[in-house]
Amino acid sequence: MTGIVVTGASSGIGRQIAIQLAQDAVRRESPTAPRMLVHYRRNRAGAEATAESIQRLGIECQIVAADLSEISAAEQFARDALERVGPIDTWVNNAGADVLTGEPASWSFDRKLRWLLDVDVCGTAAISRIVGPAMAEQEGDPLDDAGSVTPSMVFIGWDQAPEGMEGDAGMMFGPVKAAVMAFAKSLAQTLAPRVRVNCVAPGWIQTAWGESTSEYWNERATSQSLMNRWGSASDVAAAVAYLTSPAAGFITGQTINVNGGWNRRFLVADD
Ligand SMILES: NC(=O)c1ccc[n+]([C@@H]2O[C@H](COP(=O)([O-])OP(=O)(O)OC[C@H]3O[C@@H](n4cnc5c(N)ncnc54)[C@H](OP(=O)(O)O)[C@@H]3O)[C@@H](O)[C@H]2O)c1
Repeated sequence: MTGIVVTGASSGIGRQIAIQLAQDAVRRESPTAPRMLVHYRRNRAGAEATAESIQRLGIECQIVAADLSEISAAEQFARDALERVGPIDTWVNNAGADVLTGEPASWSFDRKLRWLLDVDVCGTAAISRIVGPAMAEQEGDPLDDAGSVTPSMVFIGWDQAPEGMEGDAGMMFGPVKAAVMAFAKSLAQTLAPRVRVNCVAPGWIQTAWGESTSEYWNERATSQSLMNRWGSASDVAAAVAYLTSPAAGFITGQTINVNGGWNRRFLVADD
């Protein structure tokens, strides 16, 4: 098995995950060359840039566009990806709607919430309900060789979803990412022992929004982390790479927070 798929890999965290997984595949010198697929929605140039970085490592990489807010498009993408690069070793459900920047930032709360639910929850679940069982039916004994042949799937949640955060962002991303994290746990129960399913829950990661945010949020993001800094896309990619590696062969149904450790003494003045 050598297929590796990362959804939403045209920028930010997804791009870093795809490149990290490609680098690790090269380092492992697996006897079968991996085939990678980078998914995107609109940012074709970004997806091509990710694919070029991967191809420079000597790994075959295709790009495929699909809008995951449409269930039929999400399902079609899942079938297409299996056909193109299956059997699948690693599938990362990273794609997530951005409602904080660009045109969606001006939408009503209700519209943003529905869009997030459509993309992050329903679209991701639709994909996983096709890809997960297909991965479980692939050839190979998941119990031999310390789990090194166990295919795995990773979801991206949010560290504050289980606790809650004040304001519209908390009331949107909280329920949406909590649903993603809960879905991942149930999928782990459903597909064991043939597929490992885990979740990475990032904290404040400095991607597009974080780079242009206010002094208040900059201060808040850094001081809410015990490491006293923003997280990076590489921090998240490293956790995903671990969870998908043979070293994590006995780890499934887990969520790892990548937030630098929550600072319980955090205190900043209001915005
Ligand atoms: N940054 C953070 O602090 C943070 C914290 C917690 C969780 N997360 C989660 O981490 C993941 C990556 O976030 P990021 O900050 O790297 O965001 P990003 O740079 O905006 O990337 C999001 C990716 O998702 C894709 N996408 C967006 N809407 C889509 C749709 N309707 N259908 C299919 N694909 C769609 C985008 O595709 P195109 O651009 O090609 O259209 C892009 O590739 C998301 O799930 C996000 O919720 C981020």
